[in-house]
Amino acid sequence: MSNEYPVVVYGASGYTGRLVAEHLRDLGVPFIAAGRNRKRIEEAMKLVPGIENARYQIVEVEHSVEALTKLLTGCKVICNTVGPFMRYAADVAGACVKAGVHYLDTTGEQHVLTTLRDRFGADFAKAGLCLIPSTAYMYGVSEIGARFCLDTPGVDSLDLTGVAEAVPTVASTQTILDAVRFPSHYLKDNQLVRYPGIENCDITTPSGRTLKASNWGGSSHPIWFAQDGRVRNCKMSVAMWNQELYKKELELERAYKVQLQWIPEAQLAGVLDAMAAAVTPASPPRENRQVHRAIDVCVGTGNKVMVKSTLMCTGGYFTTGLMQAYAARRLISETPRATGFRSPSEVFGHRDLMGALESYGYAAIKVERLV
Ligand SMILES: NC(=O)c1ccc[n+]([C@@H]2O[C@H](COP(=O)([O-])OP(=O)(O)OC[C@H]3O[C@@H](n4cnc5c(N)ncnc54)[C@H](OP(=O)(O)O)[C@@H]3O)[C@@H](O)[C@H]2O)c1
Repeated sequence: MSNEYPVVVYGASGYTGRLVAEHLRDLGVPFIAAGRNRKRIEEAMKLVPGIENARYQIVEVEHSVEALTKLLTGCKVICNTVGPFMRYAADVAGACVKAGVHYLDTTGEQHVLTTLRDRFGADFAKAGLCLIPSTAYMYGVSEIGARFCLDTPGVDSLDLTGVAEAVPTVASTQTILDAVRFPSHYLKDNQLVRYPGIENCDITTPSGRTLKASNWGGSSHPIWFAQDGRVRNCKMSVAMWNQELYKKELELERAYKVQLQWIPEAQLAGVLDAMAAAVTPASPPRENRQVHRAIDVCVGTGNKVMVKSTLMCTGGYFTTGLMQAYAARRLISETPRATGFRSPSEVFGHRDLMGALESYGYAAIKVERLV
């Protein structure tokens, strides 16, 4: 649609879309704020700090491959924040292939990653385009820590833990519910192994507290690192500071197995959304960086090496907004170093991404050689 606006923020009326717009404005990137409802986008844009001198345009678009292709033609990058991605991402990726546009999204769900990879990876690679899911706190930030560990030759196993303060937005809650339905995997001896269901374990924070964690959908890492010949084992466990959440996750899984899985697919989304609405009826307030902090730890081991990266991060949604905007900024100016289905660090480099997060005060990292 427009060379004047090289980036499209799809889902601009949402909590994350707004933060992507804020960081695009900060990086001086003109953008189209797109979504299904013009009025809601207008309201959201009014809440973006500094929006008065952003270069942007609002476009209402129907969620279909045809309409999205028309919108994207002439643009360079889409920042897709319309979730749950299992329901909507394939149409957006399909439109990107048709329009010749790089694709970024904020999904951390393994089944979405593998669907995008299998359906569109080859088409993106052939067209010289990037298909980069997880350009977000989960799991673009912990990936940075993992890749710092992999900088040490001989590391072949990645054991990751994350502790975060959750802000359940409307689509995030729907996404957690959606995720209970799909299998997830970890990487063991070069094979992806399926978790039997939600797997709980105890993790220890750097300050020595023990927290209940879960596989939380498996994370993106086993999918990324299954295609990295250096990595033999990769597993991640995630805990929330609000420890009640893991119990809710288990209750949901039980509800799914006992009742929900029998509901026909066409009606299931509506039932799940009603359940999500009971948890999160409306968009929560803006994040607070003094409250919403996360710690991501990766221990990388090999036969004779052990390396640990500890990453402190503040504001997972702010971080996501910046990562999307930074990635879009790079893709509109550069020939990407890799194309097709890729992780954020593969395309932008873990050191560069870390530098971007540090420059905004969103994250800091320590990397220690233990053995
Ligand atoms: N991995 C991470 O760290 C991370 C970080 C942030 C977000 N996320 C993910 O990103 C997604 C968005 O999160 P959010 O916090 O921005 O949620 P949100 O505030 O609920 O926003 C969702 C957006 O999607 C749009 N949308 C929903 N259904 C649609 C449909 N059928 N057609 C077109 N647009 C539709 C909404 O439009 P309306 O306003 O018109 O309803 C809204 O713009 C979620 O899946 C979340 O899990 C992940």
